[in-house]
Amino acid sequence: MSGEKIKAIYGTKDILPDEAVIWQRILSVVSRMASNYNYGFINPPIFEATELFTRGIGESSDVVSKEMYTFRDKGDRSLTLRPEGTASVVRSYIEHSLGARGGVFKVWYAGPMFRQERPQAGRYRQFYQFGIEAIGSSDPSLDAEIISLNRSIFSELGIDDLELSLNSIGMPGSREAHRQAFSDFINPMLGEFCGDCQRRFSTNPLRMFDCKEAGCQDRLAGAPVILDYISAEDREHFDRVLEFLELAGITYKIDKRMVRGLDYYTRTAWEIKSKRLGSQDSISGGGRYDLLVEQLGGQPTPGIGFAAGMERVILAMPDGAAGGSGRKTGVYIAIRHERFKTEAFKLSQALRGIGVPADLDYLGRSLKAQMKQADRSGLSHTMILAEDEMDRGAGIVRNLENSKQFEILLVDIYKMSGGHQFGEAIEKGEG
Ligand code: HAM
Repeated sequence: MSGEKIKAIYGTKDILPDEAVIWQRILSVVSRMASNYNYGFINPPIFEATELFTRGIGESSDVVSKEMYTFRDKGDRSLTLRPEGTASVVRSYIEHSLGARGGVFKVWYAGPMFRQERPQAGRYRQFYQFGIEAIGSSDPSLDAEIISLNRSIFSELGIDDLELSLNSIGMPGSREAHRQAFSDFINPMLGEFCGDCQRRFSTNPLRMFDCKEAGCQDRLAGAPVILDYISAEDREHFDRVLEFLELAGITYKIDKRMVRGLDYYTRTAWEIKSKRLGSQDSISGGGRYDLLVEQLGGQPTPGIGFAAGMERVILAMPDGAAGGSGRKTGVYIAIRHERFKTEAFKLSQALRGIGVPADLDYLGRSLKAQMKQADRSGLSHTMILAEDEMDRGAGIVRNLENSKQFEILLVDIYKMSGGHQFGEAIEKGEG
């Protein structure tokens, strides 16, 4: 047996406890905001039949053509680790006839997604998204509602240097007229574009706008854009979305060149970018998918949603990259003598019982080492059990941030029935 170390797979990363504190904060904001807008929680499986994604996201997308983790299981079924959440939510919506309940089906989800992309800062092979979907209405006010929810989550997290880019890519009918004009524009110089662009030209020409090569971008200057070709109904829908966004006080920039990487989009599409991020600056993206339910075998039903990448959200948060620096209210119990161990254990149980996080030493270390550990524990206070105070039935509580300390009678802790009171006692003690 070899003792060689095993490492995490390239493009994946561990979310360690310090960072996990921020994760929990983000997810609690998402959950609270989603609930404000009356969205429930849904948790589909992480792997699905491959066909769900090939049909849902589209064979011509980079995600399906190049990036999926597809494998055969022992029953020889082709399965795929989900590269995104929308197709699964729609599958679930159809499978459980969730439309039969009437109204709009509104849900949020969070979890790992898998894409075999080239890893770099802000881009992973296993990454995490939270996403929101609303299925059952093409009302433009729903577009504004979801965009507003998308923005509000970021504002709640203190992310404000954001840019919301918006476009309408119309229904497929409008795209035909655009495709023709676009082909006429590109054809004479097709050979000058990069290989990827040439491939996209035959599969999904709009994706050429996403090319990172400066030369390709220069050649695209003046190319016909889809927004100028959408039908009158699509235009009216888009104008109404803009009106509702203005009503909601949401600033946006129309980006006529913005196209999204997944084939299911129709009409409204948007992306939110953060100036704090490098080349992977898109922290969330979304849009309408009015044909997807039908494409996946359901009744024709419009839908709309977005997803945000957790790793990028953290990078965009003012205090996100610093890790979980804030301490959480709680007590690390340190003992000056081994004979106080039993009391420390009892106290830790009593504190936890009244909702106050508590921790203590399990390695028989010196008081000095315990104090160091207390500082590293992420808890806000330490309680020291030492001879003089213990003779009076008291412990010393010290605030680890400002070093203020006071005495507390242990009997008071045992008597307490709620976590608040302990918080109050801490405040009183500090004057
Ligand atoms: P998407 O634009 O492919 O859309 O991904 C949404 C977000 O996921 C991106 O803005 C980015 O923050 C994050 N993301 C994507 N790929 C990676 C990666 N390799 N590493 C780190 N983060 C990444 C969707 O997934 C759609 N399902 C969104 C949607 C929901 N549209 C309608 N409903």
